[in-house]
Amino acid sequence: MDYKEMEDSYVAPTYGRRDLTIVRGDGCILYDDDGRQYIDCFSNVGVNILGHNVPEYNQAVIMQLSKLINLHGSFYNDKRAEFAKRLLSVCPKDLTKVLFCNSGSESVEAALKFSRLSTGRKEILSAKMGYHGKTFGSLSVTTTNPKYRESFVPLLDDVKHFSYNDAESLRSVISDKTAAVILEPIQGESGIRLGDMRFMQQVREICDEFGALMIVDEVQSGMGRTGKMFAIEWTGVSPDIMCLAKGLAGGIPAGATVINDKVTEKMFPGCHTNTFGGNPLVCAAGIAVLDYIETHNLLKHAEDAGEHFMKRLREMDSPKIREVRGVGLMIGVELKEKATGYIKALQDNGVLAFPSGNLVIRFLPPLTITQEQIDTVVEKFAKVLA
Ligand SMILES: Cc1ncc(COP(=O)(O)O)c(C=O)c1O
Repeated sequence: MDYKEMEDSYVAPTYGRRDLTIVRGDGCILYDDDGRQYIDCFSNVGVNILGHNVPEYNQAVIMQLSKLINLHGSFYNDKRAEFAKRLLSVCPKDLTKVLFCNSGSESVEAALKFSRLSTGRKEILSAKMGYHGKTFGSLSVTTTNPKYRESFVPLLDDVKHFSYNDAESLRSVISDKTAAVILEPIQGESGIRLGDMRFMQQVREICDEFGALMIVDEVQSGMGRTGKMFAIEWTGVSPDIMCLAKGLAGGIPAGATVINDKVTEKMFPGCHTNTFGGNPLVCAAGIAVLDYIETHNLLKHAEDAGEHFMKRLREMDSPKIREVRGVGLMIGVELKEKATGYIKALQDNGVLAFPSGNLVIRFLPPLTITQEQIDTVVEKFAKVLA
């Protein structure tokens, strides 16, 4: 069966495709339809944080599958209650409630709506080169690539942009009309650009000064990816709203918008709902993810493994590399030339990585990747760059 041909015939052509059919995963290894193995340094853009086919996780999901899959948010449920409590226990301390949804874009949509509801103001500010999704609201605050926006205007009114890591630029656009400022702690889609600790603190201060909310988008950087549960923890800043998705339920579609008391105050039943958000299956999966992170000490592992990975990449000392940067297992290697050819060569050598902007090769492996697997990836990368 030619699955590529079938997908090309029947699936809407909205994705740039890689010439590869993946049919199975086990740990940090993916298998194609010919049985060839690949070390997964992609994890579906950071979704499969535990890796693939993980027995403890599977067990928890299967148990819930046979009990109850879906339940509308108008009813109470044991797993939803437990997941909400467990999730909040690992979030920055001022965040006290969670809205469950199904994706990163949805969690951003909710954050934008909640900031208008809470402040009674309209204007949203987002960091240039930030990525927050492709639905109308989230696309309005996404600026990584003009192509994503051009054909879909008009987007939301009252959105302005400021330069990342530049407090003066934020000051030049913020006003008493601003409802919220949204940004990523690490810009994942525009080259793994690290947010400055001082800048994040300044954003918090400036938001407080103008009565605006600070929304931190942890969709890609959250759930242990950087060695802390959330990347913003490295800065000591507590946002008003935090957006989560990707790794939240280890691969089953899940999103969450986590908020503080100030944001909860003006809410009313019906102000924002969705059909599938917080269903018992996804909540059981989310609890299993938190259990696994805790019992396997994955935060420490992600930090140590990331340090080892970056050290080995830097030691390659390749003339083709401009910079290796990242935090934990959110790593970018900026090349002096376009990354695509090297990503394809890595794939041909059994490693799946992916681009972040034109020049950067992004490595987002499952948090369970071993030192041995990292060493193999680095050896193959050295071969590809040689
Ligand atoms: C930081 C960030 N926010 C939001 C999104 C959108 O998430 P989704 O694709 O699940 O809608 C992404 C997706 O890559 C992301 O990286």
